[in-house]
Amino acid sequence: MEILKAIHLQKYYGNGENTIKAVNDISFSIEKGSFTAVVGTSGSGKTTLLNLIGGLDYADDGEVVIGGQSIMHMGEEELTIFRRRNIGFVFQNYNLISVLNIYKNITLPIRLDGNKADEEYIRHICKALGIEEKMDCYPNQLSGGQGAPSGGWKDYRG
Ligand SMILES: Nc1ncnc2c1ncn2[C@@H]1O[C@H](COP(=O)(O)OP(=O)(O)OP(=O)(O)O)[C@@H](O)[C@H]1O
Ligand SMILES: [Mg+2]
Repeated sequence: MEILKAIHLQKYYGNGENTIKAVNDISFSIEKGSFTAVVGTSGSGKTTLLNLIGGLDYADDGEVVIGGQSIMHMGEEELTIFRRRNIGFVFQNYNLISVLNIYKNITLPIRLDGNKADEEYIRHICKALGIEEKMDCYPNQLSGGQGAPSGGWKDYRG
């Protein structure tokens, strides 16, 4: 089953002579349960593409279909709810909330959605990731790879 489809996606920055064609007529589809890596040199448009297919930014042209639903024509609020329920996004600069512990950071989207997190399931996943001992820590107490915003590698654009 196709979980994601990008159809003739386009995103340009700037205009006139300074136009940067960050994503220029990109089409592909991804099967449910598969792993896909987007590879390219710095500045080649990976983050721009992920922002489009993750519903964080709108394309200039083209279509993104997730689980059969087109997200390009959703309004801000509809898209926010769709994102919260369907998309997990790990930012280049993490964007963890420093005043919440790790467990609360992980479960924040579920709680914002008015639901109760399945604690047992979340602990199971954290164990697989090797961070089960860190659930009560705060983001600045983690290493870069564990997800901390400082001490680890950062996107140079911040
Ligand atoms: N908000 C923006 N305004 C103008 N230009 C932008 C903006 N965001 C990205 N760009 C430009 O678009 C191009 C693609 O950038 P993008 O961040 O998608 O690259 P990337 O492949 O993720 O790079 P990296 O590997 O360094 O993270 C670059 O030329 C970048 O300078
Ligand atoms: Mg990037």
